[in-house]
Amino acid sequence: MYCYEGEIGMKSILVVDDVATNLRMMEAVLKDSYKLTLVKSGEQALKFLSKNNVDLILMDLIMPEMDGFETYRRIRGNGKDEHVPVIFFTADKAVEQEAEGLRLGAMDFIRKPIVPEVMLRRIERILELEDLQKDLEYKVEEKTKQVKQLMFETITAIAGTIDAKDPYTKGHSERVAEYSVKIAKELGMDEKRVNELSYIALLHDIGKVGIPDAILLKPDRLTDEEYATMKTHTSIGAKVLESLNSIQHIEYGALYHHERYDGRGYPNGLQGEEIPLYGRIIAAADALDAMTSNRAYRKHLPKERVLEEIANGKGTQFDPVVTDALLSLIEREEIVIE
Ligand SMILES: [Fe+2]
Repeated sequence: MYCYEGEIGMKSILVVDDVATNLRMMEAVLKDSYKLTLVKSGEQALKFLSKNNVDLILMDLIMPEMDGFETYRRIRGNGKDEHVPVIFFTADKAVEQEAEGLRLGAMDFIRKPIVPEVMLRRIERILELEDLQKDLEYKVEEKTKQVKQLMFETITAIAGTIDAKDPYTKGHSERVAEYSVKIAKELGMDEKRVNELSYIALLHDIGKVGIPDAILLKPDRLTDEEYATMKTHTSIGAKVLESLNSIQHIEYGALYHHERYDGRGYPNGLQGEEIPLYGRIIAAADALDAMTSNRAYRKHLPKERVLEEIANGKGTQFDPVVTDALLSLIEREEIVIE
């Protein structure tokens, strides 16, 4: 194995060929422009790649023991080099081999006898393409992050306008989202769904825009009629969110956060797992925030009472599995109750 360190910033190339004269020729053509490593067999190539990274691989197809295709398959399967471009050397008129190589995902072929100028141009072009692709991927990733951030901020702001109406519910939606996320993670939900749930939870009370302030902000007990109106914030919310198609199930929080596991909730009196999991989680998070924040008509409950209320609600108001997750989070002080 021969290595040329090259200069800082140079791209690195691994050449695999069993014929010494070929390797020497590659060496002469490439050593001034690239960090270069030359090896004589597929085994040596795999060994080198297990400890080093390269930008491009040039490989002979016909080699004793492990041929180019077999080496290629193993490189692709090593868990880190599945995207490194590979160029094969082939004998002239090896059309079938070229077809097979392209099918496997090879970037290009260089026919023997090698014309140095042609080889250099092909290498340059492929490395340029790789750079462009990486740059594009980076830009797409950045844009995606920005869009996600914008969406999160917008939804948080919308949720905030609902909570801002009443000084006692300030920050309620954000806290419900925070608790919901913690419960979901405790239940082992994957990142994508946890993210989706956080938006859904933030918007669970959006239907309160349709409730008259006289009812929404009334400090005294609501009359039966007023309470019936208040309850409609669930279905109003679902209606408002109906047109938001970019987040799946966006209406689940609004629609299901007052359903109860035993079927005695509203608006539809659904029971157990008829209530979507997102709804069951948000219902518990919402109840926890109601117990732990001050309201116009009462101060928040002390911690022991909160734990008692949650435990009592297991299987009646709350999903038992969600209840256990919430209780462990409080026990481990990942959700802190003052
Ligand atoms: Fe609500």
